[in-house]
Amino acid sequence: MEVFTENKTLTAALRPYRVSKKIGLVPTMGALHKGHLSLVSQALKDNDLVVVSIFVNPTQFNNQGDLVNYPRTLHKDVTLLKTLQANVVVYAPEANELYSNNIVSKNYNFGGIEREMEGKHRQGHFDGVGTVVSLLFKAVQPNTAYFGEKDFQQLQIVKKMTAIEKLPVEIIGCPIIREPSNLAMSSRNKRLNPQELKAAAIINKSLKLAAKYFHEKSISQINTMVANCFKDSSLSLEYFEIANEKTLKTVRRKRKGVSYRCFIAAFVGEVRLIDNQKLS
Ligand code: PAF
Repeated sequence: MEVFTENKTLTAALRPYRVSKKIGLVPTMGALHKGHLSLVSQALKDNDLVVVSIFVNPTQFNNQGDLVNYPRTLHKDVTLLKTLQANVVVYAPEANELYSNNIVSKNYNFGGIEREMEGKHRQGHFDGVGTVVSLLFKAVQPNTAYFGEKDFQQLQIVKKMTAIEKLPVEIIGCPIIREPSNLAMSSRNKRLNPQELKAAAIINKSLKLAAKYFHEKSISQINTMVANCFKDSSLSLEYFEIANEKTLKTVRRKRKGVSYRCFIAAFVGEVRLIDNQKLS
């Protein structure tokens, strides 16, 4: 499997595909797991060639410790992708290569969705995500790009960025892949010990509880129920919010005809995990 670190060689390798073939991009920060592989599988169904980018993007981390401790397992990732025996290449640039020696975020106006939930707790995070995804789209020029719904807010941000920059890339959201405990798969799970992994199951359990009582209880009662779930656990709840699925704004009262989704972020020790669930 070819691993490209330079834009020039990547561009040359992709050139023959530009005429009549389709290229799919799966942007990742590495430490690949089954969730990523499901994105790659979907991309392989839709395209002739799939580029998996592996790049731990410094501009989207608001916490230096999180950036330093983010798992980096390029060799293992490439070995895992090889097992697919499919038309996949890896793009793993250095930061200076991808950012053309200017490692800073652009300032985007995503219409307000950047200020909700993750945006409140991770200053500048979505500017960093928008910037790096835009750079990856320009380097790879894919027909389609695949993002997991675990990062539902990120998926909406990427759609907005693509529209703002008028990039000809179709964005495909893919379902969350879960552990048997229903914990959403995440590269950050690799930093948890077995006890913590077990305890982290409360994150999805609390979302399920919210979904179960969504029609019966008020939003404030559900918020309290979820907060109570965390009282007896070793996890620390950062936020739980029921939001309008389109605007991502927190809602206090349900209205007919509006789609809702609940979102959560919690710390297991120093590891921050997120999850979400549609409410219907
Ligand atoms: O979801 C991720 O892994 C990252 O935020 C992404 C989309 C690869 C951008 O760095």
